[in-house]
Amino acid sequence: MDKLIIQGGAKLHGDIRISGAKNAALPILAATLLADGPVTIGNVPHLHDITTTMELLGQMGLELTVDEKMNIEVDASTIREFFAPYELVRTMRASILVLGPLLTRFGRADVSLPGGCAIGSRPVNLHLQGLAAMGADLTVDGGYIRASAKRLKGVDLVMDLVTVTGTENLMMAATLAKGVTVIRNAAREPEVVDLANCLISMGARIEGAGTDTVRIEGVDSLSGTTYEILPDRIETGTYLVAAAMTGGNVRLKNTRPELLEAVLAKLNEAGAAITTGENWIEIGMNGQRPRAVSIHTSPYPGFPTDMQAQFTALNCIAEGTGVITESVFENRFMHVLELQRMGAQVKVEGNTAITTGVDYLKSAPLMATDLRASASLVLAGLVARGATEVDRIYHIDRGYETIEEKLSNLGAHIRRVPS
Ligand code: EPZ
Repeated sequence: MDKLIIQGGAKLHGDIRISGAKNAALPILAATLLADGPVTIGNVPHLHDITTTMELLGQMGLELTVDEKMNIEVDASTIREFFAPYELVRTMRASILVLGPLLTRFGRADVSLPGGCAIGSRPVNLHLQGLAAMGADLTVDGGYIRASAKRLKGVDLVMDLVTVTGTENLMMAATLAKGVTVIRNAAREPEVVDLANCLISMGARIEGAGTDTVRIEGVDSLSGTTYEILPDRIETGTYLVAAAMTGGNVRLKNTRPELLEAVLAKLNEAGAAITTGENWIEIGMNGQRPRAVSIHTSPYPGFPTDMQAQFTALNCIAEGTGVITESVFENRFMHVLELQRMGAQVKVEGNTAITTGVDYLKSAPLMATDLRASASLVLAGLVARGATEVDRIYHIDRGYETIEEKLSNLGAHIRRVPS
């Protein structure tokens, strides 16, 4: 296992390129199971979760070829297994996204139930309820979902909760179902829209993606396509917060400002000067200390839960007091315990973290617990006095492409060492 060592104090400056969105690439890789011809996907981030998904599809017998720019071509015509083993699913919960495509195209699937993770129990009951309503026969046996279906049928679904991968799984299942499926209370995340646009380029008939009501008219087959993944809005937000915390001035290229309006609004509130163009965002603090902000996470277009840990870190060194309420996941303050070890003044009451900014954090040996929490520890290390060690950074490698390289390009003093 590796760890990162960060020497705090550098004001970030310069520009970096944002990678493709992990949470769009994962469902779109699963969608290749639906196509009766090769699918070529561009702008895929080089992340551990992507290689895990490619391993899963490869184990099923699909042909995958990757070029030097991480364009991936997937051909599902050689599929021979409809099985997602626990060994892979437990390392990446998003493997559940193969369930809908396998069922609707091949009529069968044995997919391990994804376990919980550090941030919550992460049930998939809404995925299963939706598929059952579409006519799938599902049983859970020995930790596996055993699923079969002659041909799924279109239904009118009302989701009890807004679920991103639940909406994605059911939308993919509906593309080859018989008749029309309507998903109400659907997730509106940009990654759901990116998946829908990719499916439409394969011949799917989908309307309303990005709204809370998605209508899918089933077709008999979907063809291969070439599709480019949208930029990662959470990676973008993470580097914007890094610049805000260090009082720096950074430009992020190959990103889309309209995907992060709630985040940009909070950065403005924190005192950042933000300018944007069609595919870039620039943030300047002019050496100022950020002001603390209060946040309530919610499904898109609300403030994203995946940016909560990063703003908790910002509040630790900001001026004033900020109150952050996490309303999406039940246990997403694991980073607070580590930040407190650096001298942060944070009090967690239920699903709220109340933070009073301190003049400085002190470096400490830290342990990463989950993807976004570990990113927040790196951000804290950028401003702490001394050298901060963040261990178990495989969590970070799941969601941030070459984080130490990108931060070094912005002037941070950071290096990766074996732990
Ligand atoms: C997706 O997870 C993202 N992952 C998460 O990003 C993100 O934090 C989350 O959406 C919320 O935006 C991917 O897209 C691969 P949910 P997902 O289903 O789909 C409950 C990251 O950091 N729920 O929208 O698993 C659930 O427990 C990751 O990149 C059920 O109760 O999240 C949660 O409280 C972390 N039953 C809420 O809904 C279900 O069947 C929202 O979860 C499904 C969900």
